[in-house]
Amino acid sequence: MTKNLRLLHKTIYSLINEEVRSNNVSYNKREPYQSYERIKFNGLRWSVEKRIREYGLDRFFNPESKVLDIGSNFGFFVCEFALHCNLVHGIEPNPYLIKIGEAVASYLNISEKTLFFDAPFNTFSSSTTYDVILSLASFFTQDGRERCSAEEYFSQINQLLARGGSIFYESTSYKKEKSNPHFIAQSNALNFIKNNFISVETWETPSGSEKYFRSFALGKKY
Ligand SMILES: C[S@@+](CC[C@H](N)C(=O)[O-])C[C@H]1O[C@@H](n2cnc3c(N)ncnc32)[C@H](O)[C@@H]1O
Repeated sequence: MTKNLRLLHKTIYSLINEEVRSNNVSYNKREPYQSYERIKFNGLRWSVEKRIREYGLDRFFNPESKVLDIGSNFGFFVCEFALHCNLVHGIEPNPYLIKIGEAVASYLNISEKTLFFDAPFNTFSSSTTYDVILSLASFFTQDGRERCSAEEYFSQINQLLARGGSIFYESTSYKKEKSNPHFIAQSNALNFIKNNFISVETWETPSGSEKYFRSFALGKKY
């Protein structure tokens, strides 16, 4: 590992420690949440590169595209997309996670293509219209900090998209039980997307933990 990468890891771990101390619903209590092969950083979830491959997100790599990542966490998707797209914005209501994203963008020399907003999604507005919006485990979050209805959340996405722009939705992890709030939330999300976007594809995969699943939807704005 180079000296600069060691320094970046030190910065990230120090910000994660501060984040865990200040946020009682932190995702990073046991181990860091996101993983990123490009910077040799390991966490709980599959690496950003593997998730991009498995979800087919490289279909959105386009040097002209403007991308928004809701709930951008450590900013690893923002950075990887910025290497392939025109500009990428991340929204993350957590100053420590925002600083991690900025540090990684600086290390990868893509700061001028990235911008992070420290705000909950429902207060976010932008003069940019986006070609692609990613909502990866960021609607009806496990930390309880995102609780808009599917109608409010995906209507706001619709407004932020350029005509023909794409929404890619990954649900939180759920058990298939009618009373499970995460099961209900993903079902509401899929229904709203099916009824309000075009060319909608949906699918479901096991989440990795026994009896838990994630659903996915890809749609375009009319
Ligand atoms: C389960 S993590 C998913 C992170 C990332 N999207 C991914 O899939 O790797 C959910 C993220 O959403 C963020 N979040 C929570 N409430 C939010 C809100 N109201 N608006 C935007 N992001 C939110 C959390 O801080 C966290 O980083």
